[in-house]
Amino acid sequence: MSKHKVIYDTDPGVDDAMALVFQALHPDIELLGLTSVFGNATIDTTTRNARFLAGRFAAGVPVAQGAAAPLRRVAPEPLARIHGDNGLGNLAFDAAVAAPLDARPAHRFIIDTVRAHPGEVTLLAVGPLTNLALALADDPLIASLVKQAVIMGGAFGIDGVLGNVTPAAEANILGDPDAADIVLGAAWPVAIVGLDVTQPTIMSQDYLASLRERGGAAGQFIWDVSRHYEAFHEQSAQLKGIYVHDSSAVAYLLAPQLYTTRSGPVRVLTEGIAVGQTIQKPATLPVPAPDWDGRPACEVCIGVDVAGMLALYERTICGSPRST
Ligand code: BDR
Ligand code: CA
Repeated sequence: MSKHKVIYDTDPGVDDAMALVFQALHPDIELLGLTSVFGNATIDTTTRNARFLAGRFAAGVPVAQGAAAPLRRVAPEPLARIHGDNGLGNLAFDAAVAAPLDARPAHRFIIDTVRAHPGEVTLLAVGPLTNLALALADDPLIASLVKQAVIMGGAFGIDGVLGNVTPAAEANILGDPDAADIVLGAAWPVAIVGLDVTQPTIMSQDYLASLRERGGAAGQFIWDVSRHYEAFHEQSAQLKGIYVHDSSAVAYLLAPQLYTTRSGPVRVLTEGIAVGQTIQKPATLPVPAPDWDGRPACEVCIGVDVAGMLALYERTICGSPRST
């Protein structure tokens, strides 16, 4: 099987970092580049972190700096209580270990790379969707040249969960709802890996400790980078572990059979108290809905094989599953 050619659009971010290690170590993924975006921290911080992550785990993979703010709004405050003041869980790291910065802005890097590999590139986007919307605005034809966009974002209320930063919105979509509505309505195949499947997928403290014990330098890094993030989950949700957001998008790419999906167009609310809410019109709903009809269907993840997902991540980091 040929490898998945991936552009990783990211706002590192602790779970972004964990997902980068997953991609860098998985033999079926060829990283073509990282593109940074504001989100969990400022663009300067996420770009610095992306460069460190590429330098440390994905030698030779370029990094291009992306948007500092949403299309039509001011940038949100950094989520320091979740991701630490430095976006990487307050982990001290050697900023000299940094991939070089590509001269192009992220959206131009995306366009050029997609055009260099027509029909082959997966956009794996795990932050606000501003860079992807800017790429579409500059070169709408890339929609037909992208293999697929796999997006961590949104929530569809499967278990009653509609948001994590407001009662109605997930962080990446709320980060730039205008961009999200454009990206989810573009004529490229879109898969959405939202809170419906990322919150049921939990890496327990024992699981993370096992990665540290058995996963070499990568496992140790995953443990170190997730200490602050784990404490946040314990304080905020009384969880003895962490939700697996961005790595779930990687797992969907590698093993879509681990997920149950529902097909249908998706809209994003761009104003009002539910701004950032994602609403799908399932293909089976037999009513006219002019605001949805005519837009391409997205595959929304509504179920996950949690054990299978965690085993895939563990195998990738450690080389084998834990013996029980
Ligand atoms: C998403 O928001 C960010 O804080 C995480 O990195 C993840 O991409 C989860 O809602
Ligand atoms: Ca992220």
